[in-house]
Amino acid sequence: MPRDIVTGASAGLGPARARLDRLWARGCAFLGTRVAIMGGAMSWVSERHLVSAISNAGGFGVIACGSMGPDLLAAEIAATQALTQLPFGVNLITMHPQLDDLVRVCIEAHVGHVVLAGGIPPGTAVRAVKDGGAKLIAFTPALVLAKRLVRSGADALVIEGSEAGGHIGPVSLTVLAQEILPHVKDVPIFVAGGLGRGEAILSYLEMGASGAQLGTRFAAAAESIAHASFKQAFVRANARDALPSIQLDERFPVIPVRGLANAGTKRFLEHQAQTLARFQSGELTKDAAQLDIEHFWAGALRRAVIDGDIEQGSMMAGQSVGLVTSVQPAADIIAELTDQAVAAIAAREPWLG
Ligand SMILES: Cc1cc2nc3c(=O)[nH]c(=O)nc-3n(C[C@H](O)[C@H](O)[C@H](O)COP(=O)(O)O)c2cc1C
Repeated sequence: MPRDIVTGASAGLGPARARLDRLWARGCAFLGTRVAIMGGAMSWVSERHLVSAISNAGGFGVIACGSMGPDLLAAEIAATQALTQLPFGVNLITMHPQLDDLVRVCIEAHVGHVVLAGGIPPGTAVRAVKDGGAKLIAFTPALVLAKRLVRSGADALVIEGSEAGGHIGPVSLTVLAQEILPHVKDVPIFVAGGLGRGEAILSYLEMGASGAQLGTRFAAAAESIAHASFKQAFVRANARDALPSIQLDERFPVIPVRGLANAGTKRFLEHQAQTLARFQSGELTKDAAQLDIEHFWAGALRRAVIDGDIEQGSMMAGQSVGLVTSVQPAADIIAELTDQAVAAIAAREPWLG
């Protein structure tokens, strides 16, 4: 059966595919893509190769700026533009000390979409993105904030459930979607966290989402520069292995990060216990103890992703890691997700076929 890898369409499924295309039309129009699937930015992972592969496959790749400075970011954008003519975005972390310069780099390079993550975007950055002619995508963890972000200029929102990999909020996508999708219609909303199959994406589109963002599945893509050991750990892992980081004492907050449990996560608990003891004995001030805990994971994501240290590194992964069964090209992942959504529509409404 002839199969178009970008559309995922196959003979007999045309009307079902058309139904899917209507469901995510707003997301596709916003992103300028053929499928409304975003590759969520992942520090160290989402660079030129994966980003261009996702965009070339009809989805929307997003560069993770992470801690890059303006010059490195400019080079990464240029290198990505050399690999794809199609739209992609750049994800900037709001607490980056050079946020304004990074926004300027994006605007000068004619990046069409800037994602501001990691906190409420400051007004200056919002204005700079919009005045520069780019579209602004923001994350919202709750309905009140969603409305505020729309009022302050966000052109689209991502709602990311606690099933996701990396830094997470406390609420699952199932609940966030019910809380936010029926009440925010002014801008397209993309759902993220725990998505690994097309049927699940379809269900959120039917609830009013305009598209989906996936991270974990793309981290294990063939084009991802992640170390082979990192990808194989994803292939082996079950959903239950992707756990949030544990905070030992409420006086010393730990930012929740979901990742695969390993020797590093066990050592982190011991490290917190030792630091707590040093604080209680008067050896460390409260601030010094907090810093000591925060520094534990410094450089650890790079160690896992790039060096392949899957035991001591930070193996950020979502619960959807249980749905990663092989290392596949990004185009195959996108075609598979699309085919699953189309097949679900066709199975439910056979007269569409
Ligand atoms: C290894 C890894 C690194 C990530 N790094 C970032 C990041 O730097 N910035 C960001 O906004 N989100 C980051 N995320 C979250 C993803 O962009 C995406 O929203 C999330 O992975 C979606 O959930 P899923 O993993 O269940 O697909 C990261 C996720 C993973 C798995």
